[in-house]
Amino acid sequence: MHDPARPTPWTSVRQVGDKAALYDELAGELDALLTGEPDPVANAANAAAAIYHALHELNWAGFYFLRHGELVLGPFQGRPACVRIPLGKGVCGAAAAERRSVLVPDVEAFPGHIACDTASRSELVVPLIAAGDLFGVLDLDSPVVGRFDAADQAGCELLARVVVRHLAPSTGR
Ligand code: SME
Repeated sequence: MHDPARPTPWTSVRQVGDKAALYDELAGELDALLTGEPDPVANAANAAAAIYHALHELNWAGFYFLRHGELVLGPFQGRPACVRIPLGKGVCGAAAAERRSVLVPDVEAFPGHIACDTASRSELVVPLIAAGDLFGVLDLDSPVVGRFDAADQAGCELLARVVVRHLAPSTGR
């Protein structure tokens, strides 16, 4: 776990140069932030805050977890959001149902997009899968059309794998 006596590394938006290097660095910091804390809510909350504050041009970052066959809102940063999303509905429901990342460059061009925050213009959702079982999704929203590209998708899939390592043992399903 991060030593509270030392300044947190999650203090500012990172400069984007080499995205792969950026996400590698963030993944290491995220792992350090979550290590040693077994509580899944605490870890999901810190992960959402860390990602939200590290990546530029986001208006929402957080989690939905699978509860009794639907996605239910978990810890996040941003405006209050829709609480329950059926599998297959919206971008989150599509990522969960298909168990694959869904990158939406323009939410207005995605049929069924669920507009929790009208500021959202693009979205990236990555499924959280442990031992073959889906247990939630990581959802990032941006107010900028085309904010996310394939490098962001690969990077967020890396961050999601870190989150899975720290949350999967006790998701409460
Ligand atoms: N836009 C999402 C809903 C969740 S919010 O963005 C936080 C969707 O279409 O699934």
